[in-house]
Amino acid sequence: MNDNEKELNRIQWIGTANRGFAQQAQEEVRRLMPGVKFRTLVPTETFLADTPGSWADITRLIQDKEPIFLRHMQPVEAELGLQHNEGDLASAVGLAERICLDEKGGSIAVQVRIAERTDVPFGASEVKTAIEDKIREQSGTEVVVRHADRIMSVYIGPGAIYAGISSPEDNLSDWSGGAIRFQREENQISRAKFKLLEAERKFNLHFGDFRKGVDVGAAPGGWTSLLLERGLHVTAIDPAKLHPSLLQHPRLTYHAKNAGDVKLAHNEFDLLVCDMSWSPRQMSRLILDLLPALKSGGTAVITAKLMHKKPFQTVKELEHDFAKELELRQAKQLFHNREELTLYFVKK
Ligand SMILES: C[S@@+](CC[C@H](N)C(=O)[O-])C[C@H]1O[C@@H](n2cnc3c(N)ncnc32)[C@H](O)[C@@H]1O
Repeated sequence: MNDNEKELNRIQWIGTANRGFAQQAQEEVRRLMPGVKFRTLVPTETFLADTPGSWADITRLIQDKEPIFLRHMQPVEAELGLQHNEGDLASAVGLAERICLDEKGGSIAVQVRIAERTDVPFGASEVKTAIEDKIREQSGTEVVVRHADRIMSVYIGPGAIYAGISSPEDNLSDWSGGAIRFQREENQISRAKFKLLEAERKFNLHFGDFRKGVDVGAAPGGWTSLLLERGLHVTAIDPAKLHPSLLQHPRLTYHAKNAGDVKLAHNEFDLLVCDMSWSPRQMSRLILDLLPALKSGGTAVITAKLMHKKPFQTVKELEHDFAKELELRQAKQLFHNREELTLYFVKK
């Protein structure tokens, strides 16, 4: 293959990070794919990447070493300029139809996003419904919302419509743009609960398989409530008050203290979670003191605040601080993380 042919053998795809972290996601992608070119679609959040190789090549690279800050990716198989009028809806459907020609059988989910401040006279749900109707009409493919065999991803804006089809695993998340939503419960204690729910999915953990968990920095108690719901015995540590609805729970032990003042029995727990919202180095010192309480092979899920926007350094420092005790399995900025990320470790 000569250089010109190599140039032609490129794939475009759309990458999405949490707002403010696209630059970090791009830095990670660049390390994996040195020839990549980027164009911004939504500043600090969404970008178009143009990469040498095929979609299979790039998804293999990404899955082998999943970037911390890349939340979602979707292939671009076809693109069309926007006219900013009613006709754009028909164009989006036409584009989807074109790339759908070979889709027969199985199930497909349609995900449509319209970039902020894109001037089109319709909403994402109208486009989604129109594309779903077209797919049903044209092929025997079942249109579903979750657990699809394939996802048709359509992105509209700022100047064009982009569409592509991929397997849910290739997108890093089977939620549109990786924006995973959980139902808010009536008596939900804190929004922080969503972080732990998302970590459970992302890291493929099943909290119901654990017996005893310690929650460091537990108040008001969203994480503790999730672990209790999953059937664990939970030791919650926080000088701040836990929500009253938790206090009488028969499987809860509550130390209303600073974590530095608590003594725990050795090898007592198979799960340690910590969402202390503190400087990462101070947090790691406190956690190191508590780590003898976690059994070998036990799991730790810890959030780390990103201080001064030096995320890669923060991860390196924490990995180093814990190196003797914990093996880092994955660091990920989850959709429900704000200026922080979530680390998943296993005790050595
Ligand atoms: C973001 S909140 C935790 C939210 C909790 N995960 C939830 O789901 O409700 C952080 C908590 O860490 C606690 N915290 C901070 N420093 C602490 C320390 N040294 N020891 C114990 N808890 C601490 C704070 O009191 C605060 O309640």
